[in-house]
Amino acid sequence: MLPATYSTIELVNGTVSVRSVPFPHDALGADTVVIKPRYLGICRADTKEVVGSRDIPTDRGPLFGHELVGFVAFAGADTGFTEGERVTFNPNVTPNRTTGFAEYLFVRGTAPTLDRTVVRSPDILDDIWMPEPFACIVHAVRKLLELVEWPSFDGRRVGVIGAGCSGLMFAMYAKHLGASVVVFNRGEMRRDFAADRKLLAADEIAPLDQAAGHAGEFDVVIVVPTIATPALLAVAGGLAADGGVLQVYGGTRKGDRFPGTDADVDTIRRRELLEPVAHQGKLLHVSGAYGCGKEDYEEAFRLHAEHPDDFPLARLVSRRISLAEFPELVTAIAAETVDHPGKVVIDLAR
Ligand SMILES: NC(=O)c1ccc[n+]([C@@H]2O[C@H](COP(=O)([O-])OP(=O)(O)OC[C@H]3O[C@@H](n4cnc5c(N)ncnc54)[C@H](OP(=O)(O)O)[C@@H]3O)[C@@H](O)[C@H]2O)c1
Repeated sequence: MLPATYSTIELVNGTVSVRSVPFPHDALGADTVVIKPRYLGICRADTKEVVGSRDIPTDRGPLFGHELVGFVAFAGADTGFTEGERVTFNPNVTPNRTTGFAEYLFVRGTAPTLDRTVVRSPDILDDIWMPEPFACIVHAVRKLLELVEWPSFDGRRVGVIGAGCSGLMFAMYAKHLGASVVVFNRGEMRRDFAADRKLLAADEIAPLDQAAGHAGEFDVVIVVPTIATPALLAVAGGLAADGGVLQVYGGTRKGDRFPGTDADVDTIRRRELLEPVAHQGKLLHVSGAYGCGKEDYEEAFRLHAEHPDDFPLARLVSRRISLAEFPELVTAIAAETVDHPGKVVIDLAR
């Protein structure tokens, strides 16, 4: 039973608020899927859009409100979906949708577009984790292995810069694929979180300012901070062994270059390229990854179901809030007056 009104979050000129709006019964066409989220995740990209520090690709639109698991509340006749199906959402396909930070999310498109956008999910509600960031990690690792033509990370040494949600999932996946891993993080809070939640062993996490002591140790360095400053990219280059690969996953903006070179790291990341750079007398390759596809969600679900000990994704959830609490919290995170490790989720049943 669809309601007369519903609550949605609005982001207007950097101000986030919750509003009750009429449910658009008259606009439910044959091409429309309506999702009722049960859990929503807050992503670093959401907070960047609050302060306007993210370049938004026009082919897929803003990300604001894109991590979710829920149910199909309405399925138009041509969509290929059925009411009640358990689903998640891929924000990398179409801009023709409303924000997920709401009691209902509306997506419109052809059946093939909707098939890539609305992804059927197994039951993960009892021990919630967010499929979307993990599907991006699955995609990024697959893309990296494809670019360097390695079958796996077996025996490789992988360094990760950033123990945020994404950095910790990279570490899980690299270890699953046979790598030894060290995650370097600037602040103590995320290092402690990773240790307290038993997401990393003591020898797998280190302060970023100790990176110089690990110079040249890694075959791969994955760069996953909020912002990939030239200084951080230089630190990543320092960690890599001669012939090593830097995977730039987060924090680049238009025009960013790898320090001391013409290599355009933002384009490398968004177009998923592999380019050589000279750094401190070493030959390195810079690569990148961006977004994910339906097959990455399916692989994410398979990995989690078949290897629960390798992928303790629910342990990344650090806090649960209600939709009403969201505007104040996201505004504070965006303003950098509040910070939480791991993943903050909105529980729509609260
Ligand atoms: N390529 C893709 O498809 C894709 C998909 C999703 C996300 N991303 C990007 O991935 C990045 C990380 O996302 P996330 O979810 O892991 O974020 P997160 O959980 O908020 O973690 C952010 C990380 O960045 C670090 N950091 C922030 N500013 C830093 C600085 N100036 N120097 C050193 N470290 C810094 C933080 O370290 P502290 O603990 O010291 O603050 C923390 O480890 C974001 O840029 C996001 O936009 C990319």
